[in-house]
Amino acid sequence: MQITNLQIYNKSSYGLSELSDNSIDALVTDPPYGISFQGSYWDKDLPDKQIWTDSLRVLKHGGFGLVFSSIRLMHRLMVSIEDCGFIIKDILFWAYLNGMPKSRDIALDIDRQLGVESKIIGQYAYVQGYKKGGAEDYYAKEGKNKYEPVSEIGLKYKGAGLGIKPAYEPIILIQKPLAKGLNVAQNIIKYGTGALNLEETRIPYEEGEGKVGHNPHALGRVTANIVRTEALEDGYDKFFLVPKVRQHAEDFNHHPTKKPIHLMSHLVKLVSFEGQIVLDPFMGSGSTGVSCIENKRQFVGYELDKSYFEIATQRLQIAKHQLFD
Ligand SMILES: C[S@@+](CC[C@H](N)C(=O)[O-])C[C@H]1O[C@@H](n2cnc3c(N)ncnc32)[C@H](O)[C@@H]1O
Repeated sequence: MQITNLQIYNKSSYGLSELSDNSIDALVTDPPYGISFQGSYWDKDLPDKQIWTDSLRVLKHGGFGLVFSSIRLMHRLMVSIEDCGFIIKDILFWAYLNGMPKSRDIALDIDRQLGVESKIIGQYAYVQGYKKGGAEDYYAKEGKNKYEPVSEIGLKYKGAGLGIKPAYEPIILIQKPLAKGLNVAQNIIKYGTGALNLEETRIPYEEGEGKVGHNPHALGRVTANIVRTEALEDGYDKFFLVPKVRQHAEDFNHHPTKKPIHLMSHLVKLVSFEGQIVLDPFMGSGSTGVSCIENKRQFVGYELDKSYFEIATQRLQIAKHQLFD
């Protein structure tokens, strides 16, 4: 099947006025987290509740959704989504292990507070960060000293920080209730929605691995609610593996929170079936849309910001050409 339908709008998804009731099969979205990530203006607050109400209206009965969230504000987002009528079904953990600890050396702050000059003990060879033009360039030009505390209290708190390393992002699995009076089978027959696509998202057995269970499935294990990024090597190594996107993976895409296509493809496949329509009301640089093209789903996306919208348009065109030209 060729992808026939891509509908993208450079406007707020508030109201979803272009979309009719019960017309969308699944929702896959990465909304603002409300944490002002890297100072992004669009990330100051969690989405207006009305957008979840609108999403519920346009989804078909029994349709599923996957919504990324931040660890700190997931509870607020979940309450908001539930209040609008969705059922909270599960929380997937996207584990990536290569997250950056958002912390600082508090012992040096203590020195500063006490008016004591901390000791320079060398220079950082490389500092990871989000400075414009890349952290490496910035620090190569400016230099970045390594310090050690000097005051007595500073020494006592040497190495103390304010946060632990983030190693997962939660993704909330939600569902619009089935149509009144219908069971799952009747709902699927009528609307095509109401079940997860477990067949297309099975995790293949690793090479040499004995098949699992008494009646092993030819395609592998059922997908889990942990989606891994790297080998955890602790006995839980049987899940899905997907690397995080580097900041400048595509030179024209400067979106600060773009998600890996491999991960988005897995999510798109989990909540929809071939040919169905997937909505992303917070499209950003269009990763959900690209995954829809790659997996033969139709796509509807909304993006407020003109420059991100242009990036999404370009990425969708590239994906279409790569697949169908
Ligand atoms: C977390 S980003 C999505 C990034 C995307 N997953 C990607 O891979 O590029 C959220 C996006 O939602 C957009 N946004 C925020 N509020 C919006 C609204 N009311 N309507 C449409 N887009 C909105 C922001 O401009 C931002 O690009």
